[in-house]
Amino acid sequence: MTSVAILGCGNRGADVYARHLTALGASITHLVDSRPARLAEVAVRHGLGTGACFADADAFFALGRVADALVIATPDDMHVEPCLRALALGYDVLLEKPICLQEVELETLLAAEASSSGRVTVCHVLRATAFFRAVRAVLDSGRLGRLVGIQHAENVAYWHYAHSFVRGNWRSSPPAAPFILAKSGHDLDLLRWFAGAPPVRVSSEGGLHHFRPEEAPVGASDRCVTCPVVACPYDARVIYGGRDPVVWPVTVLTAGGVTLADALAHGPYGRCVYSGGNNVADHQAMTVTFANGVIAQLTVSALTHNNTRTLKLLGTHGELRGQMERGELERHDFRTGEVERWTVDAAGNHGGGDVGLVAAWLAFLRGQSAPPTPLAESLDSHRMAFAAERARLAGTVERV
Ligand SMILES: NC(=O)c1ccc[n+]([C@@H]2O[C@H](COP(=O)([O-])OP(=O)(O)OC[C@H]3O[C@@H](n4cnc5c(N)ncnc54)[C@H](O)[C@@H]3O)[C@@H](O)[C@H]2O)c1
Repeated sequence: MTSVAILGCGNRGADVYARHLTALGASITHLVDSRPARLAEVAVRHGLGTGACFADADAFFALGRVADALVIATPDDMHVEPCLRALALGYDVLLEKPICLQEVELETLLAAEASSSGRVTVCHVLRATAFFRAVRAVLDSGRLGRLVGIQHAENVAYWHYAHSFVRGNWRSSPPAAPFILAKSGHDLDLLRWFAGAPPVRVSSEGGLHHFRPEEAPVGASDRCVTCPVVACPYDARVIYGGRDPVVWPVTVLTAGGVTLADALAHGPYGRCVYSGGNNVADHQAMTVTFANGVIAQLTVSALTHNNTRTLKLLGTHGELRGQMERGELERHDFRTGEVERWTVDAAGNHGGGDVGLVAAWLAFLRGQSAPPTPLAESLDSHRMAFAAERARLAGTVERV
């Protein structure tokens, strides 16, 4: 049985990867997390004793290589160092995105992988969805002619943005990745995958438009539980109280045995979204030109109702439109006038991409296939994001 250690037992490490790995027949053998209550909670799920649980990575790595593979799902600024240590020990690694926060580290990791027997798979879960595989299949079929343009929108949804990018871990960069990398890393990976050529030029505009103190309604207090404002779309009591308590995002608040009431009264997820302390963009657009002339435009925005991706692929002889959340695809053929409409299964987290990625990684660990999204193929998504952030901040057009 394939044995896997988990470094960072939060939402992604424990609730997503460890859960899917176990369901698909792997064994979770070691856990590392700096929060003792969370570590204990996850250890119970996997029937692990204290000897298999570690409060810090040093103690775990000191054991040498004790499992077939390692999942790294620590916060954004804690990916590179453990990945280098894991590669030095020969671990195959499932590495959460962002790969790193400094562009130069991409090359460091690539070099470390080249001198290791271990391989790094980056968690670009969208490539593993039935929906984006169907998009790719249309491109490969040639029915759109030659691809010229991509219009892609990442609709974050107002409440999801408030959860992750105002109140949550990704509210401030640094230490978190810039918004375009944190939220659209997968989408940039898709653009690169669809374009089929390396990116050469990037421009970008965007900023923090709404979630700032000067936008607060009159009379707002610093916590929703004491706030007199009515019908605020960001009322945490409504956002969390109205959702299933045993699934994300409520589980983020209640991890380690915290009650929802306590989390709203005292924790970051009960704070007013206008109280400050967040600095990442809430609306950003970018344009990328690829080496083969394909031009892609990406918009990522908090200010959307649905939490979904929508896209259009514009070819010389056809157009493909898609809505990921509903799994809807529509293809128009300019030559024949044919219109094809169909739906694909988009159920599950990330449209089924989470379980799809884990299944593909396990197949690699079992020697049945190549790594699903290898490090070398994942670098361009990050190069585009770093270039977009430079362009956004300096108002420049950046070479990639
Ligand atoms: N692939 C995706 O689609 C996707 C989606 C969401 C998040 N992410 C990325 O996954 C990573 C984890 O996100 P999350 O939502 O699980 O966050 P989280 O906060 O729920 O989990 C992070 C865990 O790491 C632990 N931790 C922090 N410092 C540590 C240390 N020094 N040693 C050991 N453990 C430590 C924390 O206690 C926590 O349990 C982030 O980098 C995030 O950007 C990826």
